[in-house]
Amino acid sequence: MRHRARVAEQSARIEADLASKVKSEFIANMSHELRTPLNTVIGFSKLLTQHHLRRLPDKEIVEYATLIHDAAGHLLSVINDILDISKIQSGKYTLDAREVNVGEILAASVSSFRMMASEAHVDLHFTLAPDLRAIRGDAQKLRQIFTNIISNALKFTPAEGTVDVTARGTGTGGVVISIRDSGVGMTAEEIGIALTPFGQVDGGRSRWREGAGLGLPIAKALVELHGGSLELRSNKGSGTEAIITLPGRDTVSAVESHK
Ligand SMILES: Nc1ncnc2c1ncn2[C@@H]1O[C@H](COP(=O)(O)OP(=O)(O)O)[C@@H](O)[C@H]1O
Ligand SMILES: [Mg+2]
Repeated sequence: MRHRARVAEQSARIEADLASKVKSEFIANMSHELRTPLNTVIGFSKLLTQHHLRRLPDKEIVEYATLIHDAAGHLLSVINDILDISKIQSGKYTLDAREVNVGEILAASVSSFRMMASEAHVDLHFTLAPDLRAIRGDAQKLRQIFTNIISNALKFTPAEGTVDVTARGTGTGGVVISIRDSGVGMTAEEIGIALTPFGQVDGGRSRWREGAGLGLPIAKALVELHGGSLELRSNKGSGTEAIITLPGRDTVSAVESHK
């Protein structure tokens, strides 16, 4: 066999091995993320069924029902995320692109976090430049992107911190959105982990009520389907800024060709 052909064959094999390794890791992570909340549901509902034997106090009943409810909610969001990421990875994901007002979508996303921010004692600021033009995009997916990133900003910012959300025009009809927090921050290596499916920087933290590490990879893929880019700038201990750039409507014909 000629040398070049051999090298090509070798590299194809390495690539296939890698793909299958990524796939088994994906499945291992996925089963962990699904099993953990399911075990909570099974365990605590079992305790409730033993009520007639053990006469549980009201307080405990409420506590168990709450744990079951939270675990089920978590399970649903993990399943939705896993379906999203697999659909995206298979290249079958399509956008419902129309003319949208990014400022309005962003405002609605920010509003839905007001309560959470005030409970966490984090100042949530929102500034919209007056020069925003309509772009072509999928309103529901844009909302999902903003929600994922704002929820991270709040989740990783301790009390008395701030989260700043701004949007401005690019000059070529696009929009730049910045979501900046004063929270725990990440090193360059940690940013790489955060953008990998199931990647969470500090696995030791209590995982409850938290995502499965799919939020950022989904957000990044959705931004890219819009022909845009997602960039994370961060330093350990001094906060994180997520910058989303979405192209103007004249540049987004690429979006529809995905259909
Ligand atoms: N604003 C942020 N500040 C610090 N760390 C962050 C921030 N956003 C994301 N991360 C890190 O990236 C990881 C992955 O984020 P994400 O994909 O949204 O998953 P999840 O929120 O489910 O953990 C988080 O677990 C966290 O370690
Ligand atoms: Mg998240």
